[in-house]
Amino acid sequence: GTQYPFSGEHQAGIVTPAQDRLHFAAFDVREGTTREELVELLQDWSYASSRLVQGLDVSASGAVGGSPLAPPDDTGEAMGLPPSALTITVGFGPTLFVDGDGVDRFGLASRQPAKLTQLPRFSGDALDSALSGGDLCIQACADDPQVAVHAIRNLTRIGFGRVILRWSQLGFGRTSSTSTSQATPRNLFGFKDGTANVKAEETSATAEHVWVAPGDGADWLVGGSYLVARRIRMMIESWDRVRLEEQEQIIGRDKRAGAPLSGGEEFTEPDFVVESETTFGQPAIDANSHVALAHPAKNAGARLLRRGYNFVDGNDELGRLNAGLFFLSYQRDPQQFIRVQQSLSTDLLNEYLKHTGSGIWAIPPGARDGGYVGETLF
Ligand code: HEM
Repeated sequence: GTQYPFSGEHQAGIVTPAQDRLHFAAFDVREGTTREELVELLQDWSYASSRLVQGLDVSASGAVGGSPLAPPDDTGEAMGLPPSALTITVGFGPTLFVDGDGVDRFGLASRQPAKLTQLPRFSGDALDSALSGGDLCIQACADDPQVAVHAIRNLTRIGFGRVILRWSQLGFGRTSSTSTSQATPRNLFGFKDGTANVKAEETSATAEHVWVAPGDGADWLVGGSYLVARRIRMMIESWDRVRLEEQEQIIGRDKRAGAPLSGGEEFTEPDFVVESETTFGQPAIDANSHVALAHPAKNAGARLLRRGYNFVDGNDELGRLNAGLFFLSYQRDPQQFIRVQQSLSTDLLNEYLKHTGSGIWAIPPGARDGGYVGETLF
């Protein structure tokens, strides 16, 4: 199966062709943990991750090779499974640098990137603090859900005593393509999602919109990125009662092909001026459609690398699926996300959405061979 190295210029799991499955976890560092212990944790995570992505157990003795008198190093449920394109991507939240009480626990305050601050409040936010934030995050993506869950489970276990799991999210289907080699998948509203995404092959766009560059304000972060996560509940039962024509108007694209309502094919550039026979003097693409408001033309050219996943976490007491989009986007500057999300305040789609979780993390560059992820920070 496909296998990606853990080390490299950039962390894997960003421009890597989006895998089918996600397990995302946010952690808080336990009280009393020292700077040295934090560094050791990152070293331990890097060592284990460099093995996991090869389809190996977390250590040489692994699940069954150790002493029969001790609990095994590896929990074992991925034994015999291929690497499954596993990527493990680690991030640092603003609270790692200065915690909620203003305390610089690890001597990192002076290293905090000026751009790494809590996101502002957005209109319509219904955030649950139990599904938001975190000193550290790990995004595990793989083509096999068991492999992604095994990675988070074992990395959490390795962190025992140093970090506690704050919240985690499973995603069962990718809602974005990050490579031109991939077909565009669909989200739970049934629309193609990821058509206009930044793709790995667009190297000048990834340089401009995804990777932190020298002079951006934090030298240790060069080659890294900023990650925003939003857990967005989708009111799918209400959506399913909306006429097809209106669903298409809300998105700004047609449902079958994903083509802009201004005409053409999936990858035709939308035209926000052209009228159609049915819109009587109005643009074919509604000015408050999702695509019109999210498009770079409306956002001073800002683009995002979206890498989200569909989720269904059971159902609520009214018998509605607790379903939605776990939105993940990578950008060179958090302002790109903030700008687009503020522009979406009048989005016709908002009637069917509720943002219930949120987080932001600086994503350091990839680990050196024999080094560890985040090494440039310490
Ligand atoms: C485009 C769905 C939330 C940013 C799209 C498209 C769909 C879609 C169907 C058109 C296809 C494409 O180009 O990918 C959704 C759904 C959401 C959601 C169902 C919530 C559950 C967001 C959020 C943001 C965002 C929170 C960022 C703040 C974008 C951007 C585009 C886009 C930048 C590309 C626009 C363009 O360049 O034409 N989305 N989206 N979306 N979305 Fe969303």
